[in-house]
Amino acid sequence: MGLKRQLENKTVLEIGCNTGFLAISIADRAKSVLGFDINPHLIDIARDAANYAGINNARFIASSFEDFSSPEPFDSVLSFASHATYDGNTGYSIDQYLRRCYELVKPGGLLLFESHSWEQPSSDDLQQVCFAMDRFFTVRQRQVLQRGRPADQCRTFIVGQRRTIPMGVRAVHEDSHSNTLVLSSI
Ligand SMILES: C[S@@+](CC[C@H](N)C(=O)[O-])C[C@H]1O[C@@H](n2cnc3c(N)ncnc32)[C@H](O)[C@@H]1O
Repeated sequence: MGLKRQLENKTVLEIGCNTGFLAISIADRAKSVLGFDINPHLIDIARDAANYAGINNARFIASSFEDFSSPEPFDSVLSFASHATYDGNTGYSIDQYLRRCYELVKPGGLLLFESHSWEQPSSDDLQQVCFAMDRFFTVRQRQVLQRGRPADQCRTFIVGQRRTIPMGVRAVHEDSHSNTLVLSSI
């Protein structure tokens, strides 16, 4: 995936950042990193770890994905181990999840996404993810790993570039009150 190279001097958002170890490890290359997680205890650890490591361009916020908003979109959004967020821990469907990712990425920016099947070593749900992804992002790289525990089978890495207008949509307008995009259907 060439993660650090893709994030060079970029503003980065990490969804479900846990204790911040990924955000902290890329902070030396990125312009800035913002991580959020629904679990405030994990965010406390992430802040302590960043302080301990002397990182000053990484911030951490306790928030669910559903409540998170940002006044500005980001160059790149990371959604790793995403099965734990989109599958079971969020009220969003995969389509809504990727639409929110779309709103949070600048035009032409990247979504770096990793997921694996939930419990069953089947790629069916990942096919659904890829299908939904295609609507909002042009897939630039896709890699499927076939190793690890059964639950890790079909672990899929995708680099998606935000489409100007999602497929099946006529126009996109910004709603400045809610900082969301309004998509007009064809
Ligand atoms: C499996 S961990 C992945 C951590 C990290 N992204 C990684 O790749 O190592 C999933 C994280 O998502 C967080 N999470 C789950 N549902 C969430 C939601 N609705 N909003 C924000 N964070 C959520 C969990 O608290 C957990 O820290």
